[in-house]
Amino acid sequence: MSLLEVYNLTKYFGGLCANDDISFTLERGELLGLIGPNGAGKSTLFNCICGYHPVTSGRIIFDGEDITNLRAFEVARRGLARTFQVYVASGDLNVEENVMVGAFMRIRSRSKARSRATEILKEFRLEPLAGSLVSELPVAAQKRVAMATALASQPKLLLLDEVAAGLNPTEVDEIMGIIRHVHGDMGVTIILIEHVMELVMRLSQRVIVLDSGRKIAEGAPEVVARDPAVIKAYLGERYAAA
Ligand SMILES: Nc1ncnc2c1ncn2[C@@H]1O[C@H](COP(=O)(O)OP(=O)(O)O)[C@@H](O)[C@H]1O
Ligand SMILES: [Mg+2]
Repeated sequence: MSLLEVYNLTKYFGGLCANDDISFTLERGELLGLIGPNGAGKSTLFNCICGYHPVTSGRIIFDGEDITNLRAFEVARRGLARTFQVYVASGDLNVEENVMVGAFMRIRSRSKARSRATEILKEFRLEPLAGSLVSELPVAAQKRVAMATALASQPKLLLLDEVAAGLNPTEVDEIMGIIRHVHGDMGVTIILIEHVMELVMRLSQRVIVLDSGRKIAEGAPEVVARDPAVIKAYLGERYAAA
């Protein structure tokens, strides 16, 4: 049984079709890249899967259960966690408290949530920052906190929305190492939205390309990168810009 099955997912915002009849499946242990130009509908797809937006039509099956249009917390409780493209730290929380919010998804006891948070902070080398306010951290550290918080809920599936955006090359290398660790060592299945092509192409086992809400390609990274439709819609423009 696949971990995630998406069937004919369509999402309208008024007259705008942000996701147009998208279908795909995701196997346990996979790392899937999701790419496409700005406005292609990548974040909307995450929002629909996570229950942040009701879908217009289509079906989403997670771990064998139909989760279509369940509310966000109900989806999260089933083991589906995400980070947001624009990471907003929760008010005045420090790093440890922020990660504990993730742990509380599964754990009720405060002391157990704290030890889970401590474990994750160690894993992400965030211990020295445990007492710092998230809102005052540099962006690279905030991204690490976002991932740590998502993982504290012990998800089966982690959706990462542009975790490398705004990072310098050294920081991109670092986050790439963390993603490898989460996928390879912690065994978490991942879907990754990313504009940093090097990261997508090196980490992903399979890539899906969206354009104007539609899935225009799906396959191995090196095959997708040579697909004329993908080059026309997305990669060409990025190569030209570089
Ligand atoms: N909450 C919303 N309300 C109305 N329109 C939205 C909303 N979220 C996204 N959109 C629109 O849906 C389209 C897809 O957006 P998005 O999923 O954010 O694209 P991407 O993440 O690929 O850049 C865009 O045209 C965007 O303006
Ligand atoms: Mg987006």
